[in-house]
Amino acid sequence: MIYARIAGTGSYLPGDPVSNDDLVARGVDTSDEWIVGRTGIRSRHLAPAGVNASDLAQVAAERAIEAAGCMADDIDLLIVATSTPDYVFPSTAALLQAKLGMRSGGAAFDVQAVCSGFVYALSIAEKFIRSGSHKRALVVGAEVFSRILDWSDRGTCVLFGDGAGAVVLEASPAPGIRASALHADGSHHAILCVPGNVAGGVVTGDPFLRMDGQAVFKFAVKVLGDVALEVLEQAGAVPAQIDWLIPHQANIRIIQATAKRLGLSMERVITTVDVHGNTSAASVPLALDLAVRDGRIRPGHRIVLEGVGGGFTWGAVLLDF
Ligand code: ACO
Repeated sequence: MIYARIAGTGSYLPGDPVSNDDLVARGVDTSDEWIVGRTGIRSRHLAPAGVNASDLAQVAAERAIEAAGCMADDIDLLIVATSTPDYVFPSTAALLQAKLGMRSGGAAFDVQAVCSGFVYALSIAEKFIRSGSHKRALVVGAEVFSRILDWSDRGTCVLFGDGAGAVVLEASPAPGIRASALHADGSHHAILCVPGNVAGGVVTGDPFLRMDGQAVFKFAVKVLGDVALEVLEQAGAVPAQIDWLIPHQANIRIIQATAKRLGLSMERVITTVDVHGNTSAASVPLALDLAVRDGRIRPGHRIVLEGVGGGFTWGAVLLDF
């Protein structure tokens, strides 16, 4: 039996933290008290002009490759989860492949599932590895959501940040990933979207993120609980048997409600939303890498990673680290 196992993790955040008070100083009509009380967010990182998703991905990927003890050329599958790609095309994965100097000719492509993107990409990579077609995958979540924010819309611009996280996933005789589940329901596309594009050389529609915050809140709480229970059931496990829950980092109240539904104390939930904000597809691998590097997550720990985002999409992966 071939399993897929995480061999190394890495992450990268651009620049210095930008506090809620810094946003006020920049002219956003908000307050630290409002943002912390409604979301738990205290600061986020914002990429400087000219720094793109592939640049953040490159540093996170190099750190994950080093942690895995392999070389870039040992990787035969590269998947980048992003909704803020450098270009319309080529994919951010292709650009990252070049930046990493990978000459192996392995497959490289992007996955677009917004904040569920990393969980989608990890699950796809696992299926390639379990099939025997590929041996070692680099899976990255990288975002520059600051580029798609309307800084005059205080209901959204205070929520997001930029960053990247990465894992090397490789074939192993021992698990590894034990279960995964991916879902989407496109009928909810309008509650969280960037309803614009570029056509004929001009922006068509609206190029900024729009959200019905309360609808998103209710949907996220329901599906994050459901999908965590789904992967646990697939593996014949119960919430009490997991060491760590790493949910998408959108809002501390969504995370707390999910933990409560699963009967988990917040001590077993990795949270970074206070210092990263919502980094969309990067949030789960950023949180994973942080907890691996600070020693909370150790070999053999059982972890549920889960995401929910625009589409709507949602999914979870249960793994032994
Ligand atoms: N600062 C100060 N006041 C604000 C701000 C702000 N940044 N944003 C909104 N307000 C005001 C509104 O103008 C409104 O004022 P009014 O009552 O005078 O009209 C008041 O606060 C309440 O606005 P609501 O939008 O109703 O606020 P709500 O309690 O719903 O909180 C929030 C908004 C935090 C976005 C909440 O709906 C939420 O957490 N939703 C989840 C959305 C989320 O996390 N999205 C992330 C992306 S989705 C994902 O990653 C899955």
